[in-house]
Amino acid sequence: MKKRVFSGIQPTGDLHIGNYLGAIQHWVKIQHEYDCIFCVVDLHAITVPQEPKALKAKTREVAALLIASGIDPKIASVLVQSHIHEHSELTWILNCFIPMGWMRRMTQFKEKSQKQKEEVSTALFDYPALMAADILLYDTDEVPVGEDQKQHVELARDVAQRFNSICGDTLIVPKAVIAEAGARIMGLDDPTQKMSKSEEQPGRAINLLDSPDDMRNKIMRATTDSLREIRFDESRPGVNNLLVIYEQFTGQGRKEIEARFEGKGYADLKRELAEVVVEGLSPMQARYRELTADPSHIERLLAEGAGKVRPIAEKTLALVKERVGLG
Ligand code: TYM
Repeated sequence: MKKRVFSGIQPTGDLHIGNYLGAIQHWVKIQHEYDCIFCVVDLHAITVPQEPKALKAKTREVAALLIASGIDPKIASVLVQSHIHEHSELTWILNCFIPMGWMRRMTQFKEKSQKQKEEVSTALFDYPALMAADILLYDTDEVPVGEDQKQHVELARDVAQRFNSICGDTLIVPKAVIAEAGARIMGLDDPTQKMSKSEEQPGRAINLLDSPDDMRNKIMRATTDSLREIRFDESRPGVNNLLVIYEQFTGQGRKEIEARFEGKGYADLKRELAEVVVEGLSPMQARYRELTADPSHIERLLAEGAGKVRPIAEKTLALVKERVGLG
């Protein structure tokens, strides 16, 4: 039996190279080795206001981008979260097993809610419970994510353990898998902030569907520092981030990369990096255009994806309900 992997991605904003390097590229690599389920989490998206038509379109765009990046829907299951109603139902039950104190410790809620103050939804606070339900519903062993999701996956672990200790062995206790490099790609305009889907800072992220010229412009304008030497050094976040992106796209070793740029300037690094990124993403962009030429194609793939995983979700939820005494 292959181990089960589950991971999710939100259909909000534009997917960027942080999502690609921190998550998607790893998903592509492990799909043959594990039994993989990749989920476009539209229920998570509505924890903040969304325009209905745009959300629906984004959900399809993200699914198509996963497949265009190399996830084979015949091997892995790609689905939309709201197509499987068990996600919401399990969330409610798990809520009853999660102490408020655990939720209050979630740093992402603190960051996200600061901007919205009193307008912030109850669901944004409860976001990690839905994420735990996503993971636990499918008997997940491993959850490959970027660094920013580690705390949420740990909460899912804690919930599974608590449920099992109260109700008897029911849920598989999952673990987060975080890549050594690329798990935290930083913003190009401000390398002290992580690259994020926010549209407020147009120079922050290289989006997977950006035109080559947009990618070049954003990279050429990336914030660096006033030193000259080009080497991997976390105390110099701007140059370090550019080098990590270069490393991830080329697969070259750090020594080799540093040797390549010895004696060169930041403009040389940026020019080369821009070409590496443009070339690295162009096959995916071409596949995306092919895939989306007929919108019914993605629709069909997503229905098949949900159909493949539904029996697992039904089985887990039925067992959980029985253990809790529901029904
Ligand atoms: P989301 O949609 O913000 O991001 C999707 C994946 O991309 C990773 N990521 C990054 N990696 C490196 N550098 C960055 N700058 C960067 N930004 C994002 C994220 O860590 C993530 O792996 N809550 C999740 C979605 C989710 C989920 C789940 C994940 C819902 N249910 C169950 C795993 C398991 C989120 O908002 O990811």
